[in-house]
Amino acid sequence: MSINSFNKKNSSKLQNILIIGNGGRENSLAWAIQKNELVKKIYLLPGNAGSKKINKSERISLDLNNIKALTSKLKYLNIDLIVIGPETPLAEGLGDVLRKNNFDVFGPGADGAKLESSKSWAKEFMKEANIPTANFWKVESLKEAKEIIFRSPNPLVVKADGLASGKGVFIPESKEESLNATEEIFKGKFGTAGAIVVLEEKIEGPEVSVFALCDGKKYVLLPTAQDHKRLNENDEGPNTGGMGAYSPTPLMTKIHLESITKEIIEPTINSLLRKNIDYKGVLYFGLMITKSGPKVIEYNCRFGDPECQTIMPLMDKDFVILLQKCAKGNLVGNEKIRIPNKVSGCVIATSKGYPHNYEKGFPITYGNIDFEDCQIFDSGTSLNSDSEFITNGGRVLSIVCQGKDFNKVFEKAYKNLKEISFEGINYRKDIGHQVRIKKMVKRSN
Ligand code: AMP
Ligand code: GLY
Repeated sequence: MSINSFNKKNSSKLQNILIIGNGGRENSLAWAIQKNELVKKIYLLPGNAGSKKINKSERISLDLNNIKALTSKLKYLNIDLIVIGPETPLAEGLGDVLRKNNFDVFGPGADGAKLESSKSWAKEFMKEANIPTANFWKVESLKEAKEIIFRSPNPLVVKADGLASGKGVFIPESKEESLNATEEIFKGKFGTAGAIVVLEEKIEGPEVSVFALCDGKKYVLLPTAQDHKRLNENDEGPNTGGMGAYSPTPLMTKIHLESITKEIIEPTINSLLRKNIDYKGVLYFGLMITKSGPKVIEYNCRFGDPECQTIMPLMDKDFVILLQKCAKGNLVGNEKIRIPNKVSGCVIATSKGYPHNYEKGFPITYGNIDFEDCQIFDSGTSLNSDSEFITNGGRVLSIVCQGKDFNKVFEKAYKNLKEISFEGINYRKDIGHQVRIKKMVKRSN
């Protein structure tokens, strides 16, 4: 190793940060990172129109596939830490390439990202390490799938093996629906991501998201969160990327957390180590708390969206130091994340039609927003030729509020949402219903 690269690896300079990604998740990471006085500049590659509202931030545009131009520009910008937000560049090995070029990167290599980019690989990984998860079958033909589906007493959940932007999971009501979903995947609905199908036993229970910041050997847990995946109130309608979240979740009792640590988190990290996978980044455990205990529904190799927007406002200025320690592989493992005596809640405003087809380009207007303990992280916005904010995605905005209790948090979030409008705005009115105290409705008779 040259002296230069040695210095680079061992310095704790933290002036220039690069965040790769363009969603609400990346804006919330930038917002939390800018709190640290060591940080002078945060580059978002490419970010979105809302990124410019974040202190110290600047959007840059570079081709992630042109590694030579990318790394030479990042060297010119003196980037001290790179945070990779989304799963696709992680699965494609961007973390590996940047690390080879001596950058400190928060985000696993392609080997660790396989926990998300191949569901069958992740299931086999869990089976090998005896990690509780739903029973599964990996199938590579419709014939094979048919036998398993009709042999099973209940309809099986069907999953495309590869990355499918959160759309590759079907929860059928009947065996016929399981078979149809499998057929569609094998016919190419998700391209090569559907060359393998995972059939899974359907399990039941509330879902919780747990995030571990890992440095390859050690880890630190973030506050837990609960996402709301379904489009409509009462958790009905199609699955989405997430319509809102709250953190921390009281569902995660101390006893659950202890058993999750012992039976899920530590076996996962030890198993990665045994496979020589140097996992430096966030490991997202999507869990279901079933009657027989917590089980892993899925792993993700990145922060959840909107869980990240929900958790970031609870982080203090040392959060970025933890990310840097993970990237450098020097976590102590007993770092305590200082959390204010507050809870946080997030509601996502979407375009009409999301998660299916939707139109974009509608101007967004903001009324009188109360920004005390409240943030707006743009998820999908851009500017029109008059420099007005317009919608530019299915999920448009994340409204996040903090307060002493969830009632106050969501009251404020919904009050602020009433001040925001764009054509076709849609949001769930019951985010956090699990933790809000329902007001008694007086009967008139
Ligand atoms: P995934 O993309 O694997 O997180 O799946 C999306 C959603 O499908 C999860 O958040 C669950 O709500 C549901 N799901 C996935 N696997 C199962 C399963 N085996 N049993 C019941 N629901 C599931
Ligand atoms: N909110 C779920 C996810 O990010 O996959």
